[in-house]
Amino acid sequence: MAASLSLRPPALTARSSQRAGGARSCRCRLAVQARLGGGLDAEPSAELINGAVASGPSLAVEVNGLQMPNPFVIGSGPPGTNYAVMKKAFEEGWGGVIAKTVSLDSSKVVNVTPRYAKMKSADGKEVIGWENIELISDRPLEVMLEEFKRLKKEFPDRVLIASIMEECDKAAWEELIERCQETGVDAFEINFSCPHGMPERKMGMAMGQDCEILHDVCGWINAKATVPVWAKMTPNITDISRPAHTALAAGCEGVAAINTITSVMGINLETLRPEPCVEGYSTPGGYSSKAVKPIALAKCMSIAQMMAHDFPGQGRTLSGLGGVNTGRDAAEFILLGSHTVQVCTGVMLHGYPLIKKLCGGLQAFMQQHDFKSLDDFRGASLPYFTTHHELVRMQREALDAKRKERVGLAKDDDWSGDGFVAEAESMVSNS
Ligand SMILES: Cc1cc2nc3c(=O)[nH]c(=O)nc-3n(C[C@H](O)[C@H](O)[C@H](O)COP(=O)(O)O)c2cc1C
Repeated sequence: MAASLSLRPPALTARSSQRAGGARSCRCRLAVQARLGGGLDAEPSAELINGAVASGPSLAVEVNGLQMPNPFVIGSGPPGTNYAVMKKAFEEGWGGVIAKTVSLDSSKVVNVTPRYAKMKSADGKEVIGWENIELISDRPLEVMLEEFKRLKKEFPDRVLIASIMEECDKAAWEELIERCQETGVDAFEINFSCPHGMPERKMGMAMGQDCEILHDVCGWINAKATVPVWAKMTPNITDISRPAHTALAAGCEGVAAINTITSVMGINLETLRPEPCVEGYSTPGGYSSKAVKPIALAKCMSIAQMMAHDFPGQGRTLSGLGGVNTGRDAAEFILLGSHTVQVCTGVMLHGYPLIKKLCGGLQAFMQQHDFKSLDDFRGASLPYFTTHHELVRMQREALDAKRKERVGLAKDDDWSGDGFVAEAESMVSNS
């Protein structure tokens, strides 16, 4: 049975806070660090055995029928480019790997260098944002397929997902799906979201922004695929829930969000040239890393609400990503309904051993609230979103209640024994 997305009542969070309060005396080191907050340095490392935590609350998750020892998945990009790096990811304990996006003809993919640019914090010590103008994999499909086969042979119990992208051509999608499927990959992620990759061929984001094309392409894909399919969505659209709905309605088992945000990293004020600069010129790229997390959370929230409303109890899943560097970042995505959490730029900055901190940090958060599994808190923050109109109404109601308190007792019948002193105080004018 696939995990399903459900909105949890607000009472769950209130109960969990009480439980956390009751257990405070026996709080372990992990949770103390979690309460202090902080970044990656403050997060504890978990011991992992084949990706499963050796102790503490379970991080295991079942997604669209796939079993994963933890919810952390390598997001498609440089950390999943070839056999050596994907093997490393499994060895370090990542729950799953999504390989770099492949298409039928890699000869059409020509990358440039430099192709990255960083946004740093004021003290220059921390990378906040990352722009790339990298295309999908430029490695021959046959080579990638051989490596998928080898990885599935060596790590049969671990989840390997092929990320695929093609032109708007039914036969091309069918061939790509068939060839990938033969290697034994566990699922597909469809790249409907690369912002700079070959829009002239109506690929990537150009396809993912057009619900009509998306509907047809998802139909072809789902008619051919025998393994679960996730549609990876672009944030470069006003309402991300519309293409996500189209993909799910056309049979996709899940949605992944977000891919990178269209960006220009900056202009060099000496040369007046844009960055990243190739032969004096640039092209808008995709923005990722810490700075995009608030945007990613908003997009995931919007998709999760749509899924709960339009596809309740159907086992559809959400894979959240964008700016995840810590276990606490991941907890936020899960609180907004994510079943799995992907990391791409975080791995480029911190390396594959990051998985131990991600698991340790997530466990510390769970211990703080006495959560025993990811199901205990998935989607728990979704009920706390409402309209601005409703915020105004609630605030007015709260103010009215406070005002009433200040006025004191209306008549002598209202005096009580237990609240006598407070009631007297409420009517003093100069306290
Ligand atoms: C250098 C680089 C290359 C990427 N290549 C791909 C790709 O081939 N396919 C894809 O679906 N996403 C690709 N992405 C997007 C990431 O998978 C991810 O959606 C995005 O970067 C946000 O997550 P992050 O902040 O954890 O990196 C790439 C990202 C980066 C930084």
